[in-house]
Amino acid sequence: MKKINTNNALEIDIGGLKLANPVMTASGTFGYTQECRELISVSELGAVITKSITLQPSPGNRPPRLWETTAGLLNAIGIQNEGLDDFVHSKLPLLKSAGTRIVASIAGVCRQDYEALAKALDATDVDAIEVNISCPNIEHKSPTTLFAQDPYTTSCIIRSVKKQTDKPVIAKLSPNVTDIGLIARAAEKAGADAVSMINTLIGMDVDIARGKPRLGNITGGLSGPAIKPVALAMVWQAYHRVKIPIIGIGGIMSTEDAIAFFLCGASAVQIGTANFVDPAAASNIIRGLRLYLKNRGMKNIRELIGQLKV
Ligand SMILES: Cc1cc2nc3c(=O)[nH]c(=O)nc-3n(C[C@H](O)[C@H](O)[C@H](O)COP(=O)(O)O)c2cc1C
Repeated sequence: MKKINTNNALEIDIGGLKLANPVMTASGTFGYTQECRELISVSELGAVITKSITLQPSPGNRPPRLWETTAGLLNAIGIQNEGLDDFVHSKLPLLKSAGTRIVASIAGVCRQDYEALAKALDATDVDAIEVNISCPNIEHKSPTTLFAQDPYTTSCIIRSVKKQTDKPVIAKLSPNVTDIGLIARAAEKAGADAVSMINTLIGMDVDIARGKPRLGNITGGLSGPAIKPVALAMVWQAYHRVKIPIIGIGGIMSTEDAIAFFLCGASAVQIGTANFVDPAAASNIIRGLRLYLKNRGMKNIRELIGQLKV
């Protein structure tokens, strides 16, 4: 692991997760870095967030699982992954050799799943754990559809995860709620070191010629430029409700998009759908942010956070 350069204007600490820069690739959108290594220098990234890991291998949902809409992407992958053992023994060594921070995203259908995943990952050299309580594409045993739709279930999961690990714990929140500030507060009170927002918005599209839904799962999660205004509003709302750092996600395609998230209160950003358009999107945004700070004589990215003039 490379040492972080302390003169770096982009350096940031996200609840104990020390990053050389605040730009990460979002869960489920960047693979395990093997595909991208020939295209970009992965070590430049602030961090790579893994596809959400489940205890057992999961085949995901039935196809079709991706559909491109006017200004976004609908997906119903359904947490397809090879499971915890495969992650620890084959994916993680490859990821660690990429020379950047690795954040393991975990998903489950009950509290015990999250506990077991956090305990196992605590014994590995992942740098932090992102707790995906907000995937719209898997069925849960919880009384609500998603854990992150309820402050009580949010706090139960986060509290349990925190008991299993000393690594920074990030709660990934859902936009499919009435008040995301309430859920962010619940995560903070339960001990989350940071919150990341947003996961995808529930959506669907219809093939009118066949009278059928576009996705095999009928509904899916909407991501990409279409959701940026929703994500910005939610980051801004949460910024006024919690003291822990917020990681902004949703439709970030350019440096300008990322800057808008910092102004609304994000301390870092994740790039998702943009990776499918251009695998170098995150690298370009890092370069763009560095230039933006330099041109404005700013010494550190922290000077931007929450500086929206209202
Ligand atoms: C194909 C695809 C797969 C995804 N898989 C996951 C996942 O496994 N876990 C998770 O927390 N989020 C997952 N997401 C959500 C993204 O991490 C991100 O929160 C969302 O796409 C919004 O960001 P964007 O508009 O930049 O894509 C996935 C998104 C896409 C498009």
